Amino acid sequence: MNYKELREAAREKLKGYCRVCPVCDGRACAGEVPGMGGTGTGSSFRANVEALARYRLNLRTLHGAKDPDTSLTLFGQKLSTPILAAPMTGVSYNMGGALTEREFIGMIMAGARAAGSIGMCGDGGDPQFYASGLEAIAEQDGHGIPIIKPREQKAIIERIRRAEEAGAPAVGVDVDGAGLVTMALFGQPVGPKTAEELKELVASTRLPFIVKGIMTVDEALLAVEAGAAAIVVSNHGGRILDHTPGAAEVLPEIARAVKGRVTILADGGVRSGVDVLKLLALGADAVLVGRPLVIGAFGGGAEGVKFIIEKYTGELKQAMILTGCATLKDIDERVLRPL
Ligand SMILES: Cc1cc2nc3c(=O)[nH]c(=O)nc-3n(C[C@H](O)[C@H](O)[C@H](O)COP(=O)(O)O)c2cc1C
Repeated sequence: MNYKELREAAREKLKGYCRVCPVCDGRACAGEVPGMGGTGTGSSFRANVEALARYRLNLRTLHGAKDPDTSLTLFGQKLSTPILAAPMTGVSYNMGGALTEREFIGMIMAGARAAGSIGMCGDGGDPQFYASGLEAIAEQDGHGIPIIKPREQKAIIERIRRAEEAGAPAVGVDVDGAGLVTMALFGQPVGPKTAEELKELVASTRLPFIVKGIMTVDEALLAVEAGAAAIVVSNHGGRILDHTPGAAEVLPEIARAVKGRVTILADGGVRSGVDVLKLLALGADAVLVGRPLVIGAFGGGAEGVKFIIEKYTGELKQAMILTGCATLKDIDERVLRPL
């Protein structure tokens, strides 16, 4: 598969929804939610990209990291790359009609698995969104992770049961979905969770529990105290609240507070393997990629998703060679030089 052709095919199929810009940084699509952009001025989306751009890498070549290992074990799954597919739903109103919800998430799950990674799927106002994701996970023999909206407790726990039945190795809630307009459009209540409510959710399943949408140290600590297995440091791709910092901006302080006590995932603005290296150096154990995989899926189906994850993994490996990191564990702040 050819990257240029993939992007051209995606541009055609995403017409009116995503311009497939040379750099996917949230400028052209500012305010386009529903759509592919960030909410309001688009500043939170841009902050993700800008926060990553604020770091440069220390080039090191006098070492023995000749053939770096990008593998890791996450939620009991052996993965060959720390680059996961972020949950994304609302295909018809965010991405247009070229793919159905079910087709899209099927491509994400299959492509991620084929790349030695794992995909996540989301939840939304239309019950078909969550159901499609679970079907795609079951199709991949349980290799996929559902992320549920912060609905009423009973509604979340019912969906956790269905995730267990689909064979998922972990499950989570995007707690930052608390104010989602798209959910309000469907008349489905979402809202913030108290510490007690979060504890109840974690305790309701034997699966590792992921809290997605952590942007402050105090809430990272809350998630750890509630027994979460992982957090995702994320501003939801800038789609929830305008004027938040970028994930890479808050990740170091969060990592200092909870590293080693919980798996730290992070996302927002990852557009290359070098960006992956930066987030890992800032404290993440693995990263999620969102919008670029929409381009992968629309441009090349499951193969396109696999292509992008493998492209970024190759770039990560190259960057590990040139910064002296033999394994993912070797990637730390030593590789970074702040601007
Ligand atoms: C079109 C679209 C739909 C999304 N839907 C969901 C969702 O249903 N659940 C969720 O937790 N996050 C959702 N997200 C956020 C992503 O999981 C992820 O946090 C974000 O896209 C990462 O930033 P990036 O796109 O810059 O890589 C969505 C993002 C986009 C762009």
